[in-house]
Amino acid sequence: MIKCCNVIVDYSDERHVIKRALNEVSVEFSLNEFTAVIGPNGSGKSTLARCLAGLISPTSGTITINGENSEELISSGKIRDIIGIVFQNPDDQLITNFVEREIAFALEYKGTPEIEMREKVREILMRFNLDSLKERSPNRLSGGQKQKLAVASIMVANPQYLILDEPTSFLDLNERRFLFNQLRKEFSTQYETGFTILLITQFSREAIKCDRVIVLNDGKVAADDTPEKIFSEKQPLLRQIGLEIPVEYRLKNSVPGIEIEPDIFDFSSAISSQ
Ligand SMILES: Nc1ncnc2c1ncn2[C@@H]1O[C@H](COP(=O)(O)OP(=O)(O)OP(=O)(O)O)[C@@H](O)[C@H]1O
Ligand SMILES: [Mg+2]
Repeated sequence: MIKCCNVIVDYSDERHVIKRALNEVSVEFSLNEFTAVIGPNGSGKSTLARCLAGLISPTSGTITINGENSEELISSGKIRDIIGIVFQNPDDQLITNFVEREIAFALEYKGTPEIEMREKVREILMRFNLDSLKERSPNRLSGGQKQKLAVASIMVANPQYLILDEPTSFLDLNERRFLFNQLRKEFSTQYETGFTILLITQFSREAIKCDRVIVLNDGKVAADDTPEKIFSEKQPLLRQIGLEIPVEYRLKNSVPGIEIEPDIFDFSSAISSQ
């Protein structure tokens, strides 16, 4: 479990003006949750992701991961075995010249024995359907393939928590579908050993099928509940902070008794399933 207790993050700019990006955030993440974090621009989503992954430290407050203080896990380097993070732009993450190398990189870094490393890389290439691309340069992949490679290169290290910071913003609809299917597959296959996905997204719709939705606003947790409750009962809040309310939920609220199965990609499939 990850526990954030009264976490504050202040940034100071060149003129030493302080910007409070997270303001007393207390929130817990258990294993085996598929959680979405939504919030308007500047609400602190990436700051929360970076704090959880140990890339920045809170100005005050504490984060414990599986009972251990995250600062200790950062200094021992163990945090990288527990939490993996994928960024919005895969180009920021991909660093080698070959797909296969990219996947092996984290294992090489950890000093994994050669035979074990080859086996793990082979397994991940198959699992992510990247085998036929293994000798390609990551530069020459499509956006969707790049993002899939970025996720694969994190999953090879078998993290307990996978944090994705707006992973679909550069992808087209098909690529988004593909990535989501892969994430769902990863979530169900890793479930037995304990696995949590934290998906930060600007698309409210992508949160529809998650177990839990956290709404961040102005550095604070403004709501934390099931998607059903957030999108049905928190419409005034979502409207006020400028977040999209999937049309299925707007209809449900305004047309009593209407049966619509919300879809994470588009409204048209909700209509055609009627
Ligand atoms: N390195 C930094 N220095 C100064 N201020 C920063 C820095 N990084 C973020 N901020 C500020 O902190 C606040 C939260 O930023 P953050 O990037 O966490 O928000 P976000 O919800 O991820 O936004 P977006 O939807 O645009 O990705 C914003 O006001 C931002 O301008
Ligand atoms: Mg962000």
